[in-house]
Amino acid sequence: MTTALITGASTGIGASFAEVLAERGHDLILVARSKDKLDALAGKLSADFGCKVTVIAADLGLPSSGAALAQKVASLKLDVDLLVNNAGFGSAGAFARQLPQRDAEMIALNCTAVVDLVHAFLPAMIERGTGGVLNVASVGGFQPLPYMAIYGATKAFVLSFSESLWAELRGSGVKVTALCPGPVDTPFFEASGTPSLRKTVPKGFMMQSRPVVEAALAALEAGRPVCVPGVSNQALTMMPRLLPRSLMARMSAKIMGR
Ligand SMILES: NC(=O)c1ccc[n+]([C@@H]2O[C@H](COP(=O)([O-])OP(=O)(O)OC[C@H]3O[C@@H](n4cnc5c(N)ncnc54)[C@H](OP(=O)(O)O)[C@@H]3O)[C@@H](O)[C@H]2O)c1
Repeated sequence: MTTALITGASTGIGASFAEVLAERGHDLILVARSKDKLDALAGKLSADFGCKVTVIAADLGLPSSGAALAQKVASLKLDVDLLVNNAGFGSAGAFARQLPQRDAEMIALNCTAVVDLVHAFLPAMIERGTGGVLNVASVGGFQPLPYMAIYGATKAFVLSFSESLWAELRGSGVKVTALCPGPVDTPFFEASGTPSLRKTVPKGFMMQSRPVVEAALAALEAGRPVCVPGVSNQALTMMPRLLPRSLMARMSAKIMGR
């Protein structure tokens, strides 16, 4: 029996990771701010699958929250075999109209907390010679993302960080994968503060969480550095490799600025 720690497990992709991993016999540590939602999910999963589920309510956007979470996990005498860095949010609109404080919170959650948690749990995985890290980036991380400029930049950070880590850890027994979903039908769009963001999703691109999670776990198992679920999304991520980035930026600005 191994233990997976999932951040952002209260809704969306994170809740699907919890369900799929519980079905596969893993114990879980669920982290997010909404303790009530985590408790409800924990009760259901432990009843349905007999796994041990620990709930830790934490705001990972706060300074040093990654280290505090690691201390809490250590105080519960739990080992983390699989770290799923999934918590994140985006905001949409022209950069000049964004609130600096909200951008700082996004960078803290989407980047700093990811790095802090890998720092916290990776050394023990290396020592044990086994483990996994799944960092949730986005197809937006492959290209400039006008009107979601900071969000796109945080996901480019997660993608680059994960690929480097993957190469460093080859042969160590620890696997690393960056999950880069396209649009997924979760409360992400409403959490962005711009629910009309859903309308920018091209027809046929929206995926459900479960196949995204299953693709991510298969990629991690296979030792692949990057997972882009869905054929349309895979085609999309080829474009920045074929076209000039300035053209990609202008084309994205047209779609995202609608
Ligand atoms: N949905 C998409 O189209 C899409 C596409 C590409 C990538 N992604 C990425 O996928 C990941 C999951 O997103 P989702 O689509 O599942 O969105 P979601 O349903 O809004 O879930 C976000 C999760 O993050 C948690 N969270 C937010 N702020 C937090 C904080 N300060 N501290 C701790 N937890 C926090 C939320 O829980 P609480 O509010 O309870 O804290 C929630 O569990 C994100 O990294 C997102 O960027 C999503």
